Amino acid sequence: MKVLNYGSLNMDYVYTVDHMIREGETQSSSGLKTFCGGKGLNQSIALAKAGIPVYHAGIVGEDGDMLLELCRDNGVDITYVKRLPVKGGHTVIQVDREEQNSIILYGGTNQMQTEEDIDRVLNDFGAGDYLLLQNEINLLDYIIDRAYAKEMKIVLNPSPYNENLSECDLCKVSLFLLNEIEGEQMAGGSDENRILEHLAEKFPEAAFVLTLGKAGAVYFDGKEKIFQNIFEVETVDTTAAGDTFTGFFIASLIRGEGVRAAPSIPTMEEVERGIS
Ligand code: RIB
Repeated sequence: MKVLNYGSLNMDYVYTVDHMIREGETQSSSGLKTFCGGKGLNQSIALAKAGIPVYHAGIVGEDGDMLLELCRDNGVDITYVKRLPVKGGHTVIQVDREEQNSIILYGGTNQMQTEEDIDRVLNDFGAGDYLLLQNEINLLDYIIDRAYAKEMKIVLNPSPYNENLSECDLCKVSLFLLNEIEGEQMAGGSDENRILEHLAEKFPEAAFVLTLGKAGAVYFDGKEKIFQNIFEVETVDTTAAGDTFTGFFIASLIRGEGVRAAPSIPTMEEVERGIS
């Protein structure tokens, strides 16, 4: 069984600000840090750090050296990452004094996959292999259709939630990992139980993991509901927190540890060991 993550690779430009910028306002930032990111890359690195060999597929631009290097350094297989001589995907991220963030995303090369690229990559994968997806690349509908035809197990983090997802046949997805906002957008309503029940009615073959921020996370497969509380840690920047959770959760699942959330969440020591 192989694991393929078909997803975005971005350069993240993170600006420290007092508050989120308002309409018409100019605000000086007190700091700028540049990181490798993209929901796709973050989730591949989380999987690799959680001990699961992962192939990443996607496209970087002319500014993609750091992204490729970080993947390599963390043991992510980049055989299926292509490079184009144009601007790659990037973000402008504001982090305010409460450590909350807001993100402007420029798709760049993440939006340039072709059907030929996808066929070439999926040729090397088959029944029972895992395919992890987010919503930061183009032709997601085509990838889902082709992977489903090959009987791959499709896991979708529908983030960011937007109209592109309405083109996808989401009945082909086996597992959704989403936060409350995406849950509301997909199901309507804001109550977590209503969101999960609505989603389970709409996609009866799928299971769901709904993350609830400080309130923890809940798993639902239409029958069993499992709730997991958070472990308190000091917040520095919440960017990629969801991606890290996704990678570690899927890693636990692949290792056969079951869906009970407790063993899926790494201890502080494990996380520190993983990121040092
Ligand atoms: O989920 C966090 C990621 O979303 C960031 O790394 C940024 O690149 C955006 O894609």
